[in-house]
Order: sequence, then structure tokens, then C-alpha cells
Amino acid sequence: MVADAGWTTARVVEQRTLAAGTFRLRLHCPEAAARITPGQFFMVRPHGGTDPLLGRPFALYDTIDGQDGSPESIGFVYHVIGKMTSLMSRWTGGEAVEFWGPLGNGFPVPRCRHLMYVGGGIGYTPSLAVAREALGQRAYGSPARSAEQAAERVTLYYGVQSAGQRADLTDLESIDGLTIRIATDDGSEGHPGLVTDLLRESLDGDDPPEAVYCCGPLPMMTAVGRICREADVDCWLSLETPMACGFGACFSCVTRVQTDDPDGWDYRRTCVEGPVFPAAQLVLD
Ligand code: FES
Repeated sequence: MVADAGWTTARVVEQRTLAAGTFRLRLHCPEAAARITPGQFFMVRPHGGTDPLLGRPFALYDTIDGQDGSPESIGFVYHVIGKMTSLMSRWTGGEAVEFWGPLGNGFPVPRCRHLMYVGGGIGYTPSLAVAREALGQRAYGSPARSAEQAAERVTLYYGVQSAGQRADLTDLESIDGLTIRIATDDGSEGHPGLVTDLLRESLDGDDPPEAVYCCGPLPMMTAVGRICREADVDCWLSLETPMACGFGACFSCVTRVQTDDPDGWDYRRTCVEGPVFPAAQLVLD
């Protein structure tokens, strides 16, 4: 496998259902598994076909070691929402798929005592690798990067529409040092209301986070970015902008960032310059 050269072949190791219509897929791709860092993504498409022609981007959930202790597989979580993901849900162990990655910049190495991750819907998935890295429990990248000082705690605020839509959080619940709180729009589990209510409450509390990482629907991320700006807390947003090529050629994924001119802005490609941007740099309409 030569990840830098573009598409290559990976094989399905395991597929597991996490919730209705939500699956965790693991792909055997050792070179990419050794290099990928939390918040980076990769493109996946069926092997040997042209329908669908374009790949789809998926964010890292976690890497899995082989018997020699080195990263061997990449795991990611997806919802079934169209032709491609419907096809993927039928993939089984040994299936050959096309893979391109790692791509994008990912989250910075956490450097704080209390890190918060705010995730909405499927945007919660990068929090697993983020938490493990921040707490010093797993290293990612080649050479392996690590926090200068491990965080004492990581808090995950996870927002979904209803309890029936939330994913199985067993993987996350096994992490020492990670606290999880859930918010549901319909009040069927956890905090009744928006996940940003929890963020405001925490920022006003006794142990506020020193940095906030976030991924989810754009309105939620816009709100999180604004709240953190007002509180003067470092915040990074991982944008879920639709992507076509994934490598900077089509400009289908642009977002607006502020320039040095107080009223000025310019476009940046989410797939190359992102998907993670400091909230302080983004134009949050
Ligand atoms: Fe084509 Fe980003 S997806 S430039």
C-alpha cells in the first residue's frame, strides 16, 4: 500500500452495528494506520466499480494494533444515508475496498489539563482518538506525536436528536479519565435540550475546559465557536463540508476564513487546509 500515491486497496477486517443504521467498520491498511492522527480523514469507495464513482470522506475513529503491537487497521463509524453507505453496510470481512488517506490536517496535539470535545450526531466519532491521545493512553502519527503533558481529564458532550439515535458508546466508556454527558433534543436521555447548554454550563462552572474540540452539524459548530470566542477559550472546529475529490482539486469544499483585514475573508479548502480550523479564524455567520 502506498497511501501518498492516491487510491489503494484495503480489506474489511470487521463490521459492527453500533445503533440503528450506524456501523463501525475496520479496514486493514497498516501504512495509513501508522500515520493517521485524530481528526484526519480518508476517502473510501467500492473496489473495481464506478457506481458510485466518487469516494466518500470518513473521519478516524481509532487505530487498532496488530499482533506485533504496531497500528494495523483503521476504524471509522458511519450512518447509512445514501447509496454508498447502504452498499458499505453490506460489506463483510475480507471484502476489498479502495482507500485514500490519511488526508487533511486533524486536531492539534492537546496541550491542556482539561480538554472538552463537543460532538453532534456522527461528529462524536473523532472523540475516541482525541481522548486517548490527550490522556496519554495512545500515540498517533509517524513519528508518533504525543502531548507534552497529558490532560487530567477529557469531557465529551454528545448531542443527538433522541436516545434511539445515539450510538453505542461502549468504546468511549472504557476510557479512564473521560467523562461523557449526553444531550437529546427531545429530552429522551440526558440533558433535555442542546449540547451547547452543557458547554455554557461548564464554562461557567468550577472546572471549565481550557480548550474545546468540536465536530457536528454546522449550526451547532457555529454556536460552539461563538460561545468559546465570547469566553476566550481556544476552540477548534472540524468541518463536515461535503467533499468531491478530497485532495484540493475541485473546490467543492471551501469555507470562509478571516484575513488580516478586519472585514476581509478568503476561501480555504476544507479537504486540504482543514477539516480542522481554529474557530477564531472562521467566518461564523
Ligand atoms: Fe475537492 Fe476539497 S473536495 S477541493
